[in-house]
Amino acid sequence: MIERRRRRCQSHLTIHLTGALGLLIVGTASLAVYRHSAYLAAVIAASMVLLAVSHGLLAREIRRHELIERALHDTNSELESFSYSVSHDLRAPLRSIDGFSQALVEDAGPTLNEESRSHLERIRSATRRMGQLIDDLLALSKVTRAEMKQERVDVSEIATQIAAELARHAPGRAVTVTIAPGLTATGDPQLVRLALQNLIENAWKFTSRRAHASIEVGPTRDAHGAPAFYVRDNGAGYNPNFATKLFGPFQRLHPTSDFPGTGIGLATVKRIVHRHGGHIWAEGKIDAGACFYFTLG
Ligand SMILES: Nc1ncnc2c1ncn2[C@@H]1O[C@H](COP(=O)(O)OP(=O)(O)OP(=O)(O)O)[C@@H](O)[C@H]1O
Ligand SMILES: [Mg+2]
Repeated sequence: MIERRRRRCQSHLTIHLTGALGLLIVGTASLAVYRHSAYLAAVIAASMVLLAVSHGLLAREIRRHELIERALHDTNSELESFSYSVSHDLRAPLRSIDGFSQALVEDAGPTLNEESRSHLERIRSATRRMGQLIDDLLALSKVTRAEMKQERVDVSEIATQIAAELARHAPGRAVTVTIAPGLTATGDPQLVRLALQNLIENAWKFTSRRAHASIEVGPTRDAHGAPAFYVRDNGAGYNPNFATKLFGPFQRLHPTSDFPGTGIGLATVKRIVHRHGGHIWAEGKIDAGACFYFTLG
């Protein structure tokens, strides 16, 4: 959205500059001939024509951008409802596969040999994984469809609650969590919570093999000086050559056997950040931790 506006402003600027340049040229010419009123009248007429042309171009450009924006919006909505209904419809056959394979295990389990039982178990575990993928896809779709609120959000407070909840579920882990106080933003509290939850849960998960894990949440600025937030950890990191894949749905840079997950978390965060008119980027290295930065518009 921001990028679109920026491009639109740039093209408006170009058109205005063309008009201004025209005026400048004719203005300079008028200086040279100002004593000759006939010339002056011609110069004024020429500058009026230039201005009218530049305004015509501007109006045409605005109209073109509006049409493109509307078409993009329609396509996005169609895609959204398509993925929503497909995900919904996929659930029913999946429930059948799961139900009947469970019935088979219960009814014929004792008569089956070891290999057949293991096959059935694999069918059930693949079904559960697909169920999880569908749930995640639906959750991602919800993020785009949800109505957005604009409120003051206490980022420090939300991050503290998320970290406390993670610690409560994993009392065996020693993680130093440092959250800068007084971090606030304007946005949708639920969506901002979901974004922070995904980022902090990732930091928690990818530091699970560290004896001394540390997670930091704090303030920073983006390249244009706009306020931003970061979530940093000293965990497994990732290969920066594949960094562009991080935010794509179902893209994972680590095998499930090392770190479980479906690969939908960062795609969700990206959508939330974009809905707020912000942007997200990351830095990381293999075995040297990762840092995720985002703005909220
Ligand atoms: N803090 C991090 N450190 C290292 N790699 C990360 C980190 N966060 C994300 N990644 C990489 O980006 C991938 C995508 O992250 P994402 O949160 O979308 O998926 P996930 O955590 O694997 O699964 P899910 O969040 O859906 O349960 C991860 O699988 C991992 O490879
Ligand atoms: Mg995740």
